[in-house]
Amino acid sequence: MMNRWKKMYEPITLAGKKVRNRIVLAPMGTRSNLMDGTLTDRCSIYLEERARGGAGLIIPELTAVKEGYTWIPSMQIYSDRIIPALARLADSVHGFDSRIVMQLALHGGRAASAVTHKPCLAPSAIESPLYKEIPHALTKDEILELVEDWRTAAIRTQRAGFDGVEVHGSHGYLLNEFISPATNRRTDEFGGSLENRLRFPRMVVEAIRESCGDRFIIGFKMSAFEVMDGGVSPEESVQIARLIEKMGVDYLHVSATSSTVPNHRYTPYECVPTMYDEKNCLVPLAERIKNEVKVPVIAAAGIVEPADAEDILQAGKADMVAIGRAFLADAHWGLKPQTGEQIRPCIGCMTCHKHTLAGTNLVCTVNPGLLREFRDLTMPKAPVSRNVLIIGGGPAGMEAAIQASDQGHKVTLVEKGERLGGELIKASAPPFKYRTRMLLEYYRREISARPIEVRLGCALEADQLPQFLARESFDVVVTAVGAKASIPPIPGVERETVYKAGDIFEGFDYSRLGRSVVIIGAGKVGMEAAWLLADQGKQVHVVESMPEVLPGDHPSIRATLLHQLEERCVKVTPGCKVTQILDGAVFVEKDGEELQLPADSVLLAVGYQADDSLYRAALNSSCVERVYEAGD
Ligand SMILES: Cc1cc2nc3c(=O)[nH]c(=O)nc-3n(C[C@H](O)[C@H](O)[C@H](O)COP(=O)(O)O)c2cc1C
Ligand code: SF4
Repeated sequence: MMNRWKKMYEPITLAGKKVRNRIVLAPMGTRSNLMDGTLTDRCSIYLEERARGGAGLIIPELTAVKEGYTWIPSMQIYSDRIIPALARLADSVHGFDSRIVMQLALHGGRAASAVTHKPCLAPSAIESPLYKEIPHALTKDEILELVEDWRTAAIRTQRAGFDGVEVHGSHGYLLNEFISPATNRRTDEFGGSLENRLRFPRMVVEAIRESCGDRFIIGFKMSAFEVMDGGVSPEESVQIARLIEKMGVDYLHVSATSSTVPNHRYTPYECVPTMYDEKNCLVPLAERIKNEVKVPVIAAAGIVEPADAEDILQAGKADMVAIGRAFLADAHWGLKPQTGEQIRPCIGCMTCHKHTLAGTNLVCTVNPGLLREFRDLTMPKAPVSRNVLIIGGGPAGMEAAIQASDQGHKVTLVEKGERLGGELIKASAPPFKYRTRMLLEYYRREISARPIEVRLGCALEADQLPQFLARESFDVVVTAVGAKASIPPIPGVERETVYKAGDIFEGFDYSRLGRSVVIIGAGKVGMEAAWLLADQGKQVHVVESMPEVLPGDHPSIRATLLHQLEERCVKVTPGCKVTQILDGAVFVEKDGEELQLPADSVLLAVGYQADDSLYRAALNSSCVERVYEAGD
């Protein structure tokens, strides 16, 4: 077993310090700290749990070097007051034989929000597309002052017992904006040539080295590609990497500037890749740099499977791998390849990142224990073992069954279908949804590894539930029956040629649809159905009544899905109200005009409605002590 993971668990030395393996916890904003920058126990325990879970190098979230420039509850290190909490964190992480470096940044440069009540700072006064505000172009004196802020932040980090710092020069933050030709239009010694654009970051690195010495790790997170017009190209990134190496850094962490920029557009180099992107999509950028520098290179983004991480390292594409969301989904991602335990997979849904962009507490779709790790450590087995019935074998029901079983309850899981999975079966069926398939397999294996009684093909209706509960002796009922597809009140919706989009994902005979298909609803289900049908050779038109498609979704999910549909010549028309469905055609109203769209068949993808009939029936039963509802 160990040999399979030989490279991943090989130690590496950074600034003379041994790091026990090649697994790095990528820096991720948790939004769980205090507005004044204080590190909370909640965040600390989240980080310690990833050290326990096998990350040899821990990089906590972006930490501001100056007070008042952040608009979210994230760490700041502008004062000595922060040191004791950091020292406790460093100590705990060292207790797991892991190393810890602090990611130092200032703020979003031009991307900083107006809510900071400070002027946005930037290399040049170019309007921020997000906040429509002209930033203040830093003067030379102000730049020199900021260099000192970085220096003192690094000194504090060192006093707290950290092993080093990572200078954040990526993702559109201030130092990145100096490096980028798209955002730096200065004509003084901080702009123009690449050497000049790198002057500010170089001064920061040199100041830290001068004050913290040679045995203090200094890493640099850089963008090897920027999706903006005139931004850094992969070719230029190699020159940038060589110059950063010359500054004397101990590693290069290769990322890109993409989903954090406003008006996000599709790129194959997505810095926080979605479930629809190629896996390991930034690794080629890291590899290109690795071939040109001697300093260790960390590859990042979309690395989810340990086998891929090992292959990247063995092939010499990078020296270390940064694992971000896969570590949110499973705190012990770095340990489980060795123990042979299953890893709970990150499905690339972007929920966590959406929360980060909104400044709200980080949550993970597949890991309800994220940032609640303290409960895992202290939660005892239930004092009394209950007889628990869980109705519905979808993801919510399976998760509830696992949790209840682990707390010592006797669990019965009933599912009306012949397989466990519920909606996850359909959601994971398209070939491009391999990450969702990993989750389905994970759940099925976790259920079978526990003493959970599974009854398949057991359809319980609300009116039968009271008799069922009277016959059996359950103490607790959890209903997890998901939601039902909504049927819009459109004339003609009852025709035989009209299908629910969810029904076509698995075991469906596509010849029934004819050649042209109109999909009503441009949410994720409608868009995925369009992608799937276009791959089956159908002519697909997606219509959406809202003025925008996927309005509430993450910008990179929207950009990637639209790109995939465009590649397949799928028409997508927002602002389009369907008025009637006839044989062979759908009538729509767009900008006051009536249009006729050819349609051999129609798919409905207008959302779901929660179905709580079983929950209410269980509540009315006097045979059980408690009733809970899980999922939708
Ligand atoms: C919720 C979230 C917060 C992030 N915050 C930071 C951050 O503070 N600093 C940073 O350099 N990158 C940040 N990133 C980017 C990650 O470090 C990483 O580069 C990216 O998620 C790709 O890796 P992954 O596919 O393994 O998640 C964040 C990503 C996510 C998902
Ligand atoms: S919320 Fe989604 S993308 Fe984020 S870690 Fe969890 S599964 Fe992955």
